[in-house]
Amino acid sequence: MSNCAAFPDAGGIRPIKYNDGVLSLIDQRLLPTEEVWLKYTDYQAVAEAIRSMVVRGAPAIGVTAAYGALFGARAIETEDYAEFVKEFDQVCEVLGATRPTAVNLFWALDRMKSLVQANPEQPVGNLKIALEYEAMAINEEDIRINMNMGRHGAALLPEKVRILTHCNAGALATGGYGTALGVIRAAVAAGKEVAVFADETRPFLQGSRLTAWELMRDNIQTVLICDNMAGYLMSKGAIDAVIVGADRIAANGDVANKIGTYTVAILAKEHNIPFYVAAPTSTIDLQLTDGSQIPIEERDTREVTHIGEQQLAPTDIAVFNPAFDVTPARLISAIITEHGVAQGNYTEQLAAYVQQSR
Ligand code: MRU
Repeated sequence: MSNCAAFPDAGGIRPIKYNDGVLSLIDQRLLPTEEVWLKYTDYQAVAEAIRSMVVRGAPAIGVTAAYGALFGARAIETEDYAEFVKEFDQVCEVLGATRPTAVNLFWALDRMKSLVQANPEQPVGNLKIALEYEAMAINEEDIRINMNMGRHGAALLPEKVRILTHCNAGALATGGYGTALGVIRAAVAAGKEVAVFADETRPFLQGSRLTAWELMRDNIQTVLICDNMAGYLMSKGAIDAVIVGADRIAANGDVANKIGTYTVAILAKEHNIPFYVAAPTSTIDLQLTDGSQIPIEERDTREVTHIGEQQLAPTDIAVFNPAFDVTPARLISAIITEHGVAQGNYTEQLAAYVQQSR
């Protein structure tokens, strides 16, 4: 079974491919200098791929975890439904323990678990087949969702626009097409004149390694800047809009995204520049009333002290490395979803959009 032929017209790379029972992930740790595809059929290896950032970006993590759950299910030997459920829950627990902030991970695993829970009368063999279809559906839906989000978001932008983006919220961070970069792709496709400024996004450099790489592949005009240059550009009137993705959005519209997003949002507010967040409803966590409840992942200090093998800081220096921050809803001009654009009262609108997806 294959999902690779879906959406041939959607721009950008597909970072997650599934063919004949094998998952292929482009190793995002090696981009942009090497394009290496790694193959997976084992759920523990998939969990490690998520943990070690072979694949990253909230929607891409969710899609990958769904395939991981499928592989875990396939490896379960029992034909007994209750035993299968117990072992499948353990598989999902391992996958869920990989990265704490992006809620798409838990959303995708819940969807796989719900399918099993809703079909107790089915033989285990049938459940495994259904799980394969579900994982592929999650993957393909994500691309369609991003294209819809792109359409809604592009309508917010003027005919000629210079956009700042932070981190990588592109095809690489999703099943394909991208969230923030999906809006940019849709604006370009609509004939708008778009120039992108990409923050390099220290410490993992998703902006310089991934955003710059994928926008250049699509011939979208892109200028790479260091994170601390955004304020200067804004003060010079060189940025018309900011668009970023999200890892988790609380019910009130507070947004967790890559570390440094909050700083960009404050800069945008100071300079009266619209600050847009593009995210699918699978990124909205209505169980959290506000952003203070979002768990923030802390990553290996080596991401800060080293680039590859190159040491940048004194040995044994104390380091703090939170991977995400929270931008309060009041700094966000609009949240773009696949169902439409939320502006103003996020609590009501986000709840309505999530309801529409159920
Ligand atoms: O640590 P990462 O690379 O997984 O963080 C990714 C981000 O913060 C993205 O901006 C977010 O997931 C949106 S991706 C469409």
